[in-house]
Amino acid sequence: MIKKALTLISAVVLAMACQQTVKYSGPTYLDQNAPLEDRIQDAISRMTLEEKVAVIHAQSKFSSAGVPRLGIPELWCTDGPHGIRAEVLWDEWSQAGWTNDSCVAYPALTALAASWNPEISALYGKSIGEEARYREKDVLLGPGVNIYRTPLGGRNFEYMGEDPYLASKMVVPYVQEVQKNGVAVCVKHFCLNNMEENRHGYDVVVSDRALYEIYLPAFKAAVLEGGAWSIMGAYNLYKGQHLCTNQYILNDILKGEWAFDGAVISDWGGVHDTDEAITNGMDLEFGTWTDGLTMGKTNAYDNYFLAQPYLAKLRAGETSEDILNEKVARVLRLMMRTAMNPDKPFGALCSDEHIAAARKIGDESIVLLKNDGDVLPVDLASTKKLLVVGENAVKMMTVGGGSSSLKVKHEVLPLEGIKARVGDAAEVIFERGYIGDVGGTFDGVTTGQDLRDARSEEQLIADAVAAAKEADAVIFIGGLNKADHQDCEGTDRRELGLPYAQDKLIAALAEANEKLAVVIISGNAVAMPWVEQVPAIVESWYGGSQAGNSLADVLFGDVNPSGHLPFTFPVSLDDTGVHSLGGYPEEMKTVEYKEGLLVGYRWADTKNVKPLFAFGHGLSYTTFEWSEAKASATSIKSVQSEVATSVEAEKAAKKSSAITFKLTVKNTGKRAGAELVQLYVSDTECSVERPQKELKAFQKVYLQPGESKVVELSICEDDLRFFDETKHAWVSEKGEFNAIIAASASDIRQTIPFTLK
Ligand code: BGC
Repeated sequence: MIKKALTLISAVVLAMACQQTVKYSGPTYLDQNAPLEDRIQDAISRMTLEEKVAVIHAQSKFSSAGVPRLGIPELWCTDGPHGIRAEVLWDEWSQAGWTNDSCVAYPALTALAASWNPEISALYGKSIGEEARYREKDVLLGPGVNIYRTPLGGRNFEYMGEDPYLASKMVVPYVQEVQKNGVAVCVKHFCLNNMEENRHGYDVVVSDRALYEIYLPAFKAAVLEGGAWSIMGAYNLYKGQHLCTNQYILNDILKGEWAFDGAVISDWGGVHDTDEAITNGMDLEFGTWTDGLTMGKTNAYDNYFLAQPYLAKLRAGETSEDILNEKVARVLRLMMRTAMNPDKPFGALCSDEHIAAARKIGDESIVLLKNDGDVLPVDLASTKKLLVVGENAVKMMTVGGGSSSLKVKHEVLPLEGIKARVGDAAEVIFERGYIGDVGGTFDGVTTGQDLRDARSEEQLIADAVAAAKEADAVIFIGGLNKADHQDCEGTDRRELGLPYAQDKLIAALAEANEKLAVVIISGNAVAMPWVEQVPAIVESWYGGSQAGNSLADVLFGDVNPSGHLPFTFPVSLDDTGVHSLGGYPEEMKTVEYKEGLLVGYRWADTKNVKPLFAFGHGLSYTTFEWSEAKASATSIKSVQSEVATSVEAEKAAKKSSAITFKLTVKNTGKRAGAELVQLYVSDTECSVERPQKELKAFQKVYLQPGESKVVELSICEDDLRFFDETKHAWVSEKGEFNAIIAASASDIRQTIPFTLK
């Protein structure tokens, strides 16, 4: 009897305990099973006015406050976008001097775009996201998708090239994979931030068509397809308002037309006015340069525009608390998706997988621009003395360039990668050739390299030439670097030409030894007055921690190059729309985008200008044969005029009326390799002026020697649209179009006409 009673009691106790574990009875905002919006509203209802204001501005260089009383944690940001920045001091930019904050540096975003492979972008996002997670960061300040408008742009290396379609396709997997780690991306710099000179002061004048067709699509893809949880406003102005506090871009477009539910974070010091910050879409203010901040005073953050000045207005009833609640909701949403996400993984730092990923991304991005003769790949059976010339063979590139500067465990330099690959098979000699930038410190992170050299320009060239005469082959490794006025935040380049008398040196090397390969390390196009004299040219970008290994992989043929240019290399600045029309004024105050839609290849095509190397160009060590492409139909049926029952129905109808172009690509050479098939669309007759052709699909295929694969590229009605400024809508006009199957913007293989009915 007693035993029975005890069993009953323990069954009841157990049932109660089980019930307790499944039923959460604490505050809703902490209940992980409650709907996100309920949690946000519950948290807001518990916060004081002061607590609300505290979460919408910084409390240190890279963090904003949580609500300690409610157990809501701080939010930690980090640069971005090529690796996780070293820890900095609470109030200063200088590094904190930790010894456990080295990261893997991934190739720069121009390199990523040059892979033309969304799977590589996914690998990038996964790897960098895991590093951010391990370092306990909630927001990764990147990726950047400002359009490559001028080759002088100091930050082009942090962006994904000149084409809105390519940048859109490449940004989405990066965003999705980072965020799987419970780390938000912060897509930057939104938007029209295409130059660095006077970046806080210039006001952009651009047509709505260029804005919607060229400058917005990659951001839109990151938000709508990638699901980005935050976005960073840009420094400069549009329509007279700073882009961090811009009614048109942030409220009307981002939060209105695109229904963005994430947080708008200011660029560091991008907010200038409390009223504008309140009303014009700014949610979370960072980096404002109050006097206090530079002095490291404790009340510095209280002086932020969205701190005490905002609180004073709220207390005085000058502004509604609803606007504040809306900002707080966005910030809490960001916190709950990241810092307060109980399911976030642990991440990993400097793992073997991450190092291998950095090398693979580099391998896929390097572009073989020219390869006449038999210099590349280097044949070690016939090359016993290999000369390497150039500062960039021995200069660390992960330190410098602005906020993307990193602290890496180890950066494999090009000379190191080459020596490791060559081993005992040949003698590798190095000559400096030119002196560029001997600095090697950024915010307290130093390369530890002493690159000083007292030789004169003449002597450096003479020494390199003498060595070249003795060598079996010469590899020159130069280009730009991360110093001011090169590839560097805060300044633009001053010219298209290579700095430090490199042109003179390259011409002299070409005279001395006909087996010369020139490797350019840069994030920008450079002029090449010696292009005809040099048989092999490679664009190797900033390759991150594994730069030297990736380059060696390609130079010695262990990896067959498959990168393609994400932007045009013009012969001269006059060959670009922006510069020939005066759209890059000396005095950067009002910057009119006079070239409109004609950016990059769109200008070269329309004005019939022959580029040095075209957008989409890239060679391989093998050869490919393309069959004739066949279209699945001769027309696309417009669904615009039909009454679509829903957005989904309209999408499905558009998809079903798409045309698919099919062709077979065969590897006809002796090495495995990858070929890139590009599809452009041209509108032959239209009521508005359109670029001659625009990229609308691409596919990279990997083929063993002798192997063939079918490539299928589809286009639907949406790919034919332009932005109608009067209707403020995307429209397509019925009529004739051409599908252009191409190997680059200048290498057209086939043109197939079709109609939109
Ligand atoms: C840069 C941003 C960067 C921020 C924080 C700013 O100067 O423009 O891209 O994320 O600093 O370092």
